[in-house]
Amino acid sequence: MLTVGSLCFRNINALAPMVRVGTLPMRLLALDYGADIVYSEELIDIKMAQCQRVVNEVLETVDFVAPDERVMFRTCKKEKEHVVLQMGTADPDRALIVARLVENDVAAIDINMGCPKEYSTKGGMGAALLSNPDQIEAILRTLVNGVSKPVTCKIRILPTLEETVSLVKRIEGTGVSAIGVHGRLKDERPRHPVHCDVIKAVSQSVSIPVIANGGSLDLIKAHADFEEFRKATGASSVMVARAAMWNPSVFRSQGLLAVEEVMKEYLKYAVRYDNHAFNTKYCLCQILREKVESPLGKQLLSAQTNEEICEAYGLQEYYKKTQAELQTRRDAIQTNRGDPNHPVLDGDVTTMRVKFERREYPGEFSPKMFLLEWSRKENLEQPAYETIQRSQDRAFQSIVTMAGKKYRSTLWEKSKKFAEQAAAIVCLRVLGLPEGRVGEGHSGLVGKRKREEKRKDSPNEEDATVGCEARKRPLSENPAEPRASSGASTLPNGSVLQ
Ligand SMILES: Cc1cc2nc3c(=O)[nH]c(=O)nc-3n(C[C@H](O)[C@H](O)[C@H](O)COP(=O)(O)O)c2cc1C
Repeated sequence: MLTVGSLCFRNINALAPMVRVGTLPMRLLALDYGADIVYSEELIDIKMAQCQRVVNEVLETVDFVAPDERVMFRTCKKEKEHVVLQMGTADPDRALIVARLVENDVAAIDINMGCPKEYSTKGGMGAALLSNPDQIEAILRTLVNGVSKPVTCKIRILPTLEETVSLVKRIEGTGVSAIGVHGRLKDERPRHPVHCDVIKAVSQSVSIPVIANGGSLDLIKAHADFEEFRKATGASSVMVARAAMWNPSVFRSQGLLAVEEVMKEYLKYAVRYDNHAFNTKYCLCQILREKVESPLGKQLLSAQTNEEICEAYGLQEYYKKTQAELQTRRDAIQTNRGDPNHPVLDGDVTTMRVKFERREYPGEFSPKMFLLEWSRKENLEQPAYETIQRSQDRAFQSIVTMAGKKYRSTLWEKSKKFAEQAAAIVCLRVLGLPEGRVGEGHSGLVGKRKREEKRKDSPNEEDATVGCEARKRPLSENPAEPRASSGASTLPNGSVLQ
């Protein structure tokens, strides 16, 4: 499994999960204003499990796309270390499938155990889980053991303090990294006062971070109130929903901004990331609140597209400029699409659509060996391979790290060995190095090395790559660039390496 770091849940202010509100533009805006962690809206496991992960080169996002082409979850590099995907689930196995699908694109995974709405509870999800602690344990344990990212959950309080404390202790025992506590009972409405004393008792009863929630209506109006709420609940952290929905600049330590300014910033993100116009409109209406009856509100309500919404806010120029930029990128991608060797950046990994076909590499030396030899010749650290296996079809995908940069094929292979070869090919092609493919000029590098090693009676190269300790060598100043000074090994056609 790949590990991309772990999120800290202590002393943070978070944007709480909100259906329809917590989509990409709102999450990015909350981060800009100072939120440390941003939760996605609740995404239902059955729908997410059907999604395909698609790198959207034009928008520079990763999209999880349903069979009907709807984007269920869109994320981007800017939020990768901060975004928590909240899932609605009642089934450990399905939850694991979804968690594995998204784990390399998010910072943590949260399970919703507090939603009292019928669409959630009827499937045994959301607040229905609160009366099924065995199922809670099964889901959380499965995820904690099955994914490399932190797992958390968000609950509501139970009718008695003893029940609540007993539940959170069981939850803590599953190994979750934090627990969000909305200090209201399942049947209490958002207008009811939040039970800070219960959150406090919960905070004192466990050692994992507790994220206090429920203070928007009368306690949290601006950034300074986060600290008051934290103190009142004795919690590690604070999570805010409605106050942020009404004005996401609530996260700003310098104070609230006027909603007119905030709405424009929201809209810019909505346009840049091609947010669905209905969703854009919905979120802007939440910020406008009672002002939806104003002339601006009426213009917003009658708008059908992001372009029309931009007109209402005087952002026509921004809309045109952004569309032109996206079109330029679209055209460039279209031109490159015919070229199978066109590399695409997916986060910090350079990818290409490469399949390792054994018959195309008939020689003695595999792409992995070519890469290993090149690293030795250049005095670089040996290439390091990390491989994952997906559960649906047990197929493999590898990332090779070479000189601090990562390379991967977008295609999945039937074996770990083949996946590593495909990753090595991507790296070699990006660096313009020979890979040992049929029809490619013969390289003397590997052959010479091989002969030398045979003379020394050392193990064969392929085994050496896998078995021996990686030799640590200092990286050169510009390691991923083939260096001109290193002679013919840097020639793009790779016909001569010595
Ligand atoms: C529009 C809206 C959508 C919500 N959707 C979710 C959700 O998807 N998952 C969840 O756990 N809670 C959801 N909630 C509940 C909030 O996360 C939060 O627990 C509740 O609003 C109390 O916090 P607050 O006082 O800061 O608003 C939603 C709340 C609102 C207002």
